[in-house]
Amino acid sequence: MSLDQVKLVDQAITSRHSVRAFLDQAVDQQTIKDILTVASRAPSGTNTQPWKVYVVTGQKRQEMIDRVCKAQLEVSQNPELAKQYTETFAYYPEKWISPFIDRRRENGWGLYGLLNIQKGEKEKMAAQQLRNYQLFDAPVALYFTVNKAMGVGSKMDISMMIQNVMIAAKARGLDTCPQAAWNHFHPIVLDVLNAPDDEELVCTVALGYADPQHIVNTFITPRLPVEEFTVFLD
Ligand SMILES: Cc1cc2nc3c(=O)[nH]c(=O)nc-3n(C[C@H](O)[C@H](O)[C@H](O)COP(=O)(O)O)c2cc1C
Repeated sequence: MSLDQVKLVDQAITSRHSVRAFLDQAVDQQTIKDILTVASRAPSGTNTQPWKVYVVTGQKRQEMIDRVCKAQLEVSQNPELAKQYTETFAYYPEKWISPFIDRRRENGWGLYGLLNIQKGEKEKMAAQQLRNYQLFDAPVALYFTVNKAMGVGSKMDISMMIQNVMIAAKARGLDTCPQAAWNHFHPIVLDVLNAPDDEELVCTVALGYADPQHIVNTFITPRLPVEEFTVFLD
């Protein structure tokens, strides 16, 4: 690879960030196929390729949004209902510890700050949470599922596939937001997808063209310096 090519790869990786406002602009299906073809070069344990992807657009997308937003609104009005919508696997810890909780808070308040949401403004927070289930207006939703018979390692494989999707999308002028939020509503999601009983929802990715005018998309998150998370042993 030439130095220029290295720079292009690095740029595709470092310019990716989570976009939370998309334009009402369709994505060509061939482009989505190209992205998935490239992304499927992701490694997987013993090449099991455990990912399955549902590409949801048009009326199906609207049906998904309508059903899940309705459920989320019901939960907001009656938090007791949240028990019905537990994730199949815990993405986050039950008990948070430092420094992770601090980074999580910094991230949340950074985003809310940009959106002018102050502490205690529960309605505004609920509205922003609902934006997840409106796909932040992205025209395409990618739902990644795995066969329940597979081990936890398959979720690592799928994560690598998802990262590839996000980078390949970025290289084509598209943006993404990975979303664990949908996992709570997996029974509804899987029903709308008409997925077989042996499938489990792993993650959702909103895909589309970023709205360059929206302030939420100016949110760029920090990263630790290499020295803080790496141990070099010789
Ligand atoms: C598996 C996964 C699930 C995520 N779920 C959500 C989500 O449900 N809603 C959301 O707004 N962002 C979600 N994010 C985005 C993270 O908040 C974001 O990646 C992180 O703050 C770093 O910012 P960046 O992606 O802009 O670099 C998720 C990210 C990952 C990797």
